[in-house]
Amino acid sequence: MKKTVFENNNNPQLCGIVQPLLRWYAENARVLPWRENTDPYRVWVSEIMLQQTQVETVTPYFDRFMRQFPDIQSLAHAEEEALLKVWEGLGYYTRARNLQKAARIIVQKYAGRFPFSYDEIRALPGIGAYTAGAVASICFGQPTPAVDGNVVRVVARLTGYDGDTAHPKVKEQIAAALRGVYPASQSADFTQSLMELGATVCLPRGAPKCESCPVNSLCMAYQTGTQMAIPVKVSKKPRKKEQKTVLLLCCGDKIALRRREAGGLLGGLWEFPNSDGSLTVQEVRRILDWWHISVVSVAESVRKKHIFTHIEWDMSSYIIICENMPQDFLWVTRETLEKQIALPSAFQAFRRVFFCTLAD
Ligand code: ADE
Repeated sequence: MKKTVFENNNNPQLCGIVQPLLRWYAENARVLPWRENTDPYRVWVSEIMLQQTQVETVTPYFDRFMRQFPDIQSLAHAEEEALLKVWEGLGYYTRARNLQKAARIIVQKYAGRFPFSYDEIRALPGIGAYTAGAVASICFGQPTPAVDGNVVRVVARLTGYDGDTAHPKVKEQIAAALRGVYPASQSADFTQSLMELGATVCLPRGAPKCESCPVNSLCMAYQTGTQMAIPVKVSKKPRKKEQKTVLLLCCGDKIALRRREAGGLLGGLWEFPNSDGSLTVQEVRRILDWWHISVVSVAESVRKKHIFTHIEWDMSSYIIICENMPQDFLWVTRETLEKQIALPSAFQAFRRVFFCTLAD
């Protein structure tokens, strides 16, 4: 790997940013619900939600989550289905399951008090270096950097780093370099100021707002006009494409669901029955026979694409009016589907089709 410019703890760009960035943050921090106080439970939940998801999307989810599970105890004792329902649409459901696993450990091992040390926080399920750094610095004032994609971009531009930032060691190296410049009594604000700069000024793709950046005079990329080319990410391999046919099995006011196998993509979550491939009506009828379903009608319905991190589903669908309800499926009403079942985003367009079918 290319030698990094941020390996050196006395890096002038990094030493110089601390005070201007803190002053800027004091005046420009967005008002966000998880910044109301430094309760580690709130900060932890918000940081988990914010992984892979934008602030605007997270905010209403965070508010609902806190209303329903206001503390570690209530999360530890939640029904899994209720927990997944609040998470519905946020994706990466393992995050929600790990939150609960960790809450249970905190209740059992730490008498319900969030652990204080970085190593203990880091050891909890679903908590990596980034989240442990964020909680330990924001809530407990420790000099523990939280390096996510935003912070990588900020530091790569500041230092003019044009190596591959997707390399697994880069985050660790940036964390090590930042640790050397953490301001002792303002760790919380420094962590958040870096995140905030990445989220609101040092923007990815399109043009970063360099004119309003409080540290532009220290930024190598700005000085050399390379801010659009940095960070460099060696292109990832393209997503695998898969065809699926979704079968909306309706009987009276009910629709069929089944549970996905544990582990793997959307493991253990509910889905509408579906099959690999893009099926013809004849092929669908053959499957329905196999499932012992007597059919009134089979009609082609909407097509949807759904993009996961590594896979893309091209989904066609059929509405099937059935005469019987085989017990291999869970048959639910609109109300149950709306209020109790967490349905992954990939299937939500088809849920709307079912609702329209009922309304007709
Ligand atoms: N992105 C990740 N963590 C964040 C935070 N605490 N505030 C705003 N944006 C963030």
